[in-house]
Amino acid sequence: MATVQQLSTKHVLGIKYLTAEDIRLIFETAESFKEVINRPIKKVPSLRDVTVANLFFENSTRTRISFELAEKRLSADVVNFSASSSSVKKGETLLDTVNNILAMKVDMVVMRHPAPGAHHFLAQHIDANIINAGDGTHEHPTQALLDAFSMQEQVGDLAGKRVVIFGDILHSRVALSNIYCLTKLGAKVRVCGPPTLIPKHIQSLGVEVSHDVWDSLKWCDIANVLRIQLERQDIKYFPSLREYSQYFGINKTLLDSLDKPIVIMHPGPINRGVEISSDVADSDHSIILQQVENGVAVRMAVLYLLAAGR
Ligand code: CP
Repeated sequence: MATVQQLSTKHVLGIKYLTAEDIRLIFETAESFKEVINRPIKKVPSLRDVTVANLFFENSTRTRISFELAEKRLSADVVNFSASSSSVKKGETLLDTVNNILAMKVDMVVMRHPAPGAHHFLAQHIDANIINAGDGTHEHPTQALLDAFSMQEQVGDLAGKRVVIFGDILHSRVALSNIYCLTKLGAKVRVCGPPTLIPKHIQSLGVEVSHDVWDSLKWCDIANVLRIQLERQDIKYFPSLREYSQYFGINKTLLDSLDKPIVIMHPGPINRGVEISSDVADSDHSIILQQVENGVAVRMAVLYLLAAGR
């Protein structure tokens, strides 16, 4: 019987801790699972002896449903937890909450939490595999994996390809995970946005910085557009969303002026008319819904490979 290859880590806490080989193994595995979920019978028995808890301490639509579907397609037993309807409201700590859920024989934890580093803290105290589904402004590793997988489907090997991440880089966990993932795969990465929404020293991660949307669109093969994360801003970093849209929004007039097609991406949720116009988000160049579709196969791959290491 063929041996299942494994990741170099027990948890997926961030892309920072994965190797390029780990990322490529996840992509190869996701390609197989993409075939599975396009069949009439979309399930495989791979995780039938595994129980997964999805713990969401922050809101989510795509990530939460995508993980639940991925787990069910792999035949895992699944339990879902929302902090808003739990005993967290009565003052129970994160560690007590998780230890109580693990006492019910849960093997893997998928968690979204507003505190950067919450998953690292848990990893020091529990034995279950942990997958980070977003920790504050820090990392969102499975989003970056599905983004890079989707990019590769469009343009092939990412080595040397030019990707611009537009928007609120300062507050975005998607931006940081994308930067780690794309640079590990050899892509050339640029971030573009207002100076107040780009972290100082981001160039130390091997990316270019631009505040010029037109120059960045001309430069890139792929534009990954992010929303302004107003919920994470204590003060207003930019005078108004209308002004952001005017100076940094990606619209059809800009794209029509380019002498080449580029791939348009967005992790969602979209604020139509702010960072991206509807006619761009819904255009033939947009792969936004393909990203969502690929999220299930990529998350199946991550769950499967972590379970193989158990
Ligand atoms: N892309 C993403 O994380 O979306 P959700 O917040 O809806 O999960």
